[in-house]
Amino acid sequence: MINTDWEAQYQAKDTPWDKGEASPGLADWLATQPHATRGTVLVPGCGLGYDVRAWAVAGFSATGLDIAPSAVERAQAAGASERTEFRLGDFLADEPSAPFDWVFEHTCFCAIQPARRDDYLRALLRWLKPGGHYLAVNYFIPDTDGPPFGVDREEIWARFSPHFELLEEWTPRSYPNRTGLERMFLWQRRE
Ligand SMILES: C[S@@+](CC[C@H](N)C(=O)[O-])C[C@H]1O[C@@H](n2cnc3c(N)ncnc32)[C@H](O)[C@@H]1O
Repeated sequence: MINTDWEAQYQAKDTPWDKGEASPGLADWLATQPHATRGTVLVPGCGLGYDVRAWAVAGFSATGLDIAPSAVERAQAAGASERTEFRLGDFLADEPSAPFDWVFEHTCFCAIQPARRDDYLRALLRWLKPGGHYLAVNYFIPDTDGPPFGVDREEIWARFSPHFELLEEWTPRSYPNRTGLERMFLWQRRE
């Protein structure tokens, strides 16, 4: 199993996943939520922090977590506010000091080795409060030689439905090279 050296990729500025803006699906969803209760949100694998800043602008207390020091430094330098925090850490291994109301998934699940997907689920259950919401943009591609590693709806359902109630799912607006390949899921963790 080859583990990606994310730090080396940031240092080499070899970051083809970085689109310079938040996930279009997240931006559209946040625009439809002016009255939803605000709270804390964790963005694991936040990269340079576009999604974190989008959540913060919408009124959430947003924390970005990334395993690559250069990503965290650049995310902080790109603009932090009183509602943003960027932390260096390993989503799969670390213990949160306090669990979050929301976890937002975008290009973290597809970045980790498929053999670690059980660890991803265990991590999600550590980082998210019971009753909390898990909003995910999943990447429905067939690739097994990632990252990105693909997934399909059947696997998403099998992994998450035992622990979460599916509130909604839809095909979002996407970056041009991902159009039609992304699917968003809004889950609520069972108490
Ligand atoms: C494909 S990139 C996506 C970055 C960002 N979400 C974006 O869309 O621009 C995957 C990110 O996950 C981070 N990452 C990989 N494994 C991680 C882990 N176990 N814990 C935290 N971050 C991780 C990498 O450093 C990288 O920034």
